[in-house]
Amino acid sequence: MSQSLTALPSWHALEQHRQSMHAQHLRELFAADPERGRRFTAEGAGLYLDYSKNLITDETITLLIRLAEECGLAKRRAAMFAGEIINRSEGRAAFHCALRAPAGAVMHTGGENVVPQVQEVLARMGAFVDKVHDGRWSGATGQRLRHVVNIGIGGSYLGPEMAWRALRNFRHADMDVRFIANIDGAQFLDVTVDLDPAETLFIISSKTFTTLETMTNAHAARAWVVAKLGEAAVARHFVAVSTNTEAVRAFGMDPEHIFGFWDWVGGRYSMDSAIGLSTMLAVGPRHFAELLAGFRAMDEHFQTAPLARNLPVLLGLLSVWYNNFFGAQTQAILPYAHDLARLPAYLQQLQMESNGKGVDETGQPVAVDTGPIIWGEPGTDGQHSFYQLIHQGTRLIPCDLIGFCQPLSPLQNQHDLLMANLFAQAEALAFGKGATDLRAEGAAEAQIPFRVCPGNRPSNLLLADALSPATLGAIIALYEHSVFTQGVIWGIDSFDQWGVELGKILAQRVVADIQDGGKSLRHDSSTNTLLQRYLQRREG
Ligand code: F6P
Repeated sequence: MSQSLTALPSWHALEQHRQSMHAQHLRELFAADPERGRRFTAEGAGLYLDYSKNLITDETITLLIRLAEECGLAKRRAAMFAGEIINRSEGRAAFHCALRAPAGAVMHTGGENVVPQVQEVLARMGAFVDKVHDGRWSGATGQRLRHVVNIGIGGSYLGPEMAWRALRNFRHADMDVRFIANIDGAQFLDVTVDLDPAETLFIISSKTFTTLETMTNAHAARAWVVAKLGEAAVARHFVAVSTNTEAVRAFGMDPEHIFGFWDWVGGRYSMDSAIGLSTMLAVGPRHFAELLAGFRAMDEHFQTAPLARNLPVLLGLLSVWYNNFFGAQTQAILPYAHDLARLPAYLQQLQMESNGKGVDETGQPVAVDTGPIIWGEPGTDGQHSFYQLIHQGTRLIPCDLIGFCQPLSPLQNQHDLLMANLFAQAEALAFGKGATDLRAEGAAEAQIPFRVCPGNRPSNLLLADALSPATLGAIIALYEHSVFTQGVIWGIDSFDQWGVELGKILAQRVVADIQDGGKSLRHDSSTNTLLQRYLQRREG
């Protein structure tokens, strides 16, 4: 695929077209077409996308759509929704869309309709959550479980933590949810310092139930609970979310307290599976169902909207446009919502673990750059930090700006100011400010070179009415399918993550070295010297 990608007629046409874009500035494109800000928009699943402030013309979109067609996007999309084994390097389906299918739907993978299993787990999660909320499920001493600690990392953490913050306005009043991901014991202590084991429920979330960080923290939590409440308390204070039932049993947990999911759910695509148990405990089963409905609405939009009006397709193709035709290395996610503070971190894993690949699906080196570096912070914080580089630096950084019409706090005036900043930034990025305007304003001539903002910095603006569970689901599914679209264009497997394995294996070797006091170090000279220094000095 990689060789033929650059040989596709649409790829050639896009390269030619890119040359013609050198002379174009967004100022002129907007001046030439008074309808541009209305025409380059699309809507779906409650989300409104304004992509008019991108470095594009009608021809760009036509060619990008042609590229998607020539890469077989529709066929690949159909294969994903049909539960086919599209994660070829791991021999699995990527069937996360089945997690949000309505009860009664029929979705087959591996010859089996998986919807009944999904619904069964959701029902068990709901029943458990209700019992915790109304006190029927209490701690070993009979005290109410008011604190939930999710122990998990990567896909077993980033989604739940992001959702806990994002759905702040929908939280159950008596539930406090916290997260331990890092193997650094400092986080364990920080999270548990003010907790009483008698009131604390741990969710051990791990798809594989082998991840070093999670298993280490799970054992620390177990010891912490047992020290205060005794061995018998484990059953009341621990539940697990995993695909590895055997390993959970070996940990000493009752199978009744396991909420399962399946190998066709990738870790970074799992926040709407049982990995969302902490989310459901936080917001309740009804709001969790709304979250799933939001995901589903975007799935339907992705499957049915024409490519040129399809939000995930447009977002994905625009990423390809900048990544491959402008050489953009990074992409910023800038939510104008304090509650979405962890969205950039979540999308970092979703996009970079999915599309950070150097070979195509057949194992051949790719011929073009793949997944961009994803980063970001909430506006307006970022405006007073790194936006300077976006406005006047030498690098092109396409930005996704995300905002909501309705406030997330009762402070309406502050919301107006927040949104004013969002709209103003999109405007400033696109149009900048030239020397003529500065002179007209009486700027000192010597300062003009420093003050000119060139503009022509592309951005997407994603606007929704309110940050509800459904909106959150739609936003996440939007990015999932945008990542998929990009992966299809590049011909890569967006659903494996072999690159993270090597570090895990080497860490085990280093652990053994540390445990035997460095007696038989067999690393390179740098690693050996570092380990020796660490071993000599670790006791202070
Ligand atoms: O670090 C890689 C990874 O496998 C991620 O893909 C995954 O989300 C994370 O580790 C956690 O894995 P698990 O849920 O199996 O503990």
